[in-house]
Amino acid sequence: MPGLLLGDVFPNFDADTTIGRIKFHDFLGSSWGVLFSHPRDFTPVCTTELACAAKVSDEFKKRGVKMIALSVDSVEDHRNWSKDVMAFSNAAESTLPFPIIADDKRELAVQLGMLDPDERDKDGMPLTARCVFVIGPDKKLKLSILYPATTGRNFDELLRVIDSLQLTAQKKVATPVDWKPGDKVMVIPSLSDAEAAALFPNGVTTKEVPSGKKYLRFTQP
Ligand code: BEZ
Repeated sequence: MPGLLLGDVFPNFDADTTIGRIKFHDFLGSSWGVLFSHPRDFTPVCTTELACAAKVSDEFKKRGVKMIALSVDSVEDHRNWSKDVMAFSNAAESTLPFPIIADDKRELAVQLGMLDPDERDKDGMPLTARCVFVIGPDKKLKLSILYPATTGRNFDELLRVIDSLQLTAQKKVATPVDWKPGDKVMVIPSLSDAEAAALFPNGVTTKEVPSGKKYLRFTQP
């Protein structure tokens, strides 16, 4: 099964995009990156997703994350479809604020394990699933998610996981269920109590549990 594992260096591929030919690592520079694929241009769920991505693009920018989309259509299709996306986003006078990769030969889709075997075009060719790859400034894969073509993603959740990835890249903490910025976080299990006390000046509180084990340690980062 082709695909990438967390911690792998993301391939430095060349591609045609709506902003011209790119080399992926040069496109990223020293930023974080998010690459998200969709099955096809001019399809309904994809249009709602990219319109939402356009609306929240400033939030990605604030976090220093460069966005890039991908599907198995041509640059010309992407450019034409982008106008529909922006009109759907009630911003017809603006251009899509991130590029789209034209993977019409499905080379990247195969290399990155993005094809959805259950979704095919009218010629029987497989379409790309809804993948998300978050790439760190070290060019390594930090997160991947994979949805089928029939389920649209949630871009607020993508921003939430990016907030967690960026926080946990800096501090020895992990974010609990439904965490949002500002909430308490958990001290990672590999830290001793003494190390945690030294690292977290806001203090560490430990939740008592029937096992008596002191692993539920919370702090305010
Ligand atoms: C859509 O974007 O609406 C879609 C694309 C391929 C299969 C199913 C839905």
